[in-house]
Amino acid sequence: MRVVLSIGGSVLVPDLDADRVAAFASVVNGLAADGVTLGVVVGGGAIAREYIGAARSLRANEIELDGLGIAATRLNARLFITALGGRAIPSPATDYEAAGAALRRGDVAVMGGVTPGQTTDAVSAAVAEYVGADLLVYATSVPGVFSADPETSADARKFERLSAGDLVDVIADVEMSAGASAPVDLLAAKLIERSGTRTIVLDGTDPERIERAVHTGEHGGTDVVPEGSNDEPTYWVDG
Ligand code: UTP
Repeated sequence: MRVVLSIGGSVLVPDLDADRVAAFASVVNGLAADGVTLGVVVGGGAIAREYIGAARSLRANEIELDGLGIAATRLNARLFITALGGRAIPSPATDYEAAGAALRRGDVAVMGGVTPGQTTDAVSAAVAEYVGADLLVYATSVPGVFSADPETSADARKFERLSAGDLVDVIADVEMSAGASAPVDLLAAKLIERSGTRTIVLDGTDPERIERAVHTGEHGGTDVVPEGSNDEPTYWVDG
C-alpha cells in the first residue's frame, strides 16, 4: 500500500515540541514497519507565519514571502527526518522526482514546499499523483471537510463522504467567504479530482488517528472518493 501523508504545520508544530514530533514520527515508522510505502509532506506552522509576518512588515513581495514559507516547511521537514531516524531520506526532497525515487528505494520520502504560489496541501496532492498513491491522508487541525468554515459559521456541517468534484465545489464556496479557511485548498482539491486519488481529511491532532485510518479506513473525518468508484478499498493494512 502506498500512502502520502500531509501533516499540517498547525498539527505537527503549533509550537516546537520534540515529544509531539516524535509521536508523529513513531506512527510513520510503525506504518513503514507494517510494509506501507510512505511519502510525508510537512507544513510550515507557526514558524512560517512568524517569518512571513515579519517579512511582510519589511515590505517583501508575495513571491519572497512564499520563499520564506517554503524554507520554513523544509526546516520542519528536516526536523521530522531527524525524528524518523534511519528510515527516511537524509534531507527533504525538493521535487516530485526525488520523492518518487526515494519511495522506489524503500525510504520514507519527506518534503516541504516546492514552488511559490501554493501550499503544502497542493504539494501533497501532486506527489500523491506522481507516485500513484493508493491513499492521500490530510492530517489537519479540523475534523474533516465542512459545508462552511466551522470557525465562522454555526450551521457548518461535516461531510462523511464526497466525490472529488464535490470537494472542488465545496472548497471553492468556502474560499469565497471572507476570512474563512478550508482544510484543503482549492488547487489541492483540483489535483485530487484530476488524479482520482482516494483521500481522507481527518483531525490529525492525535497521530494515532492517522495510524487507525491507514490500518482500517476508520477515522471520523471525510472520505473523498474518486468519481464512479463506490467500492470499498481492500488495501487497508488490517483488511
Ligand atoms: P503551508 O503549506 O504550511 O501553508 O506552507 P498554510 O496552509 O498557509 O499553513 P497551515 O497549514 O495553515 O499552517 C507555508 C507557506 O509556505 C509557502 C506559502 O507561502 C505557504 O503559505 N509555500 C509552501 C509555497 O510557496 N509553496 C509550496 O509549495 C509550499
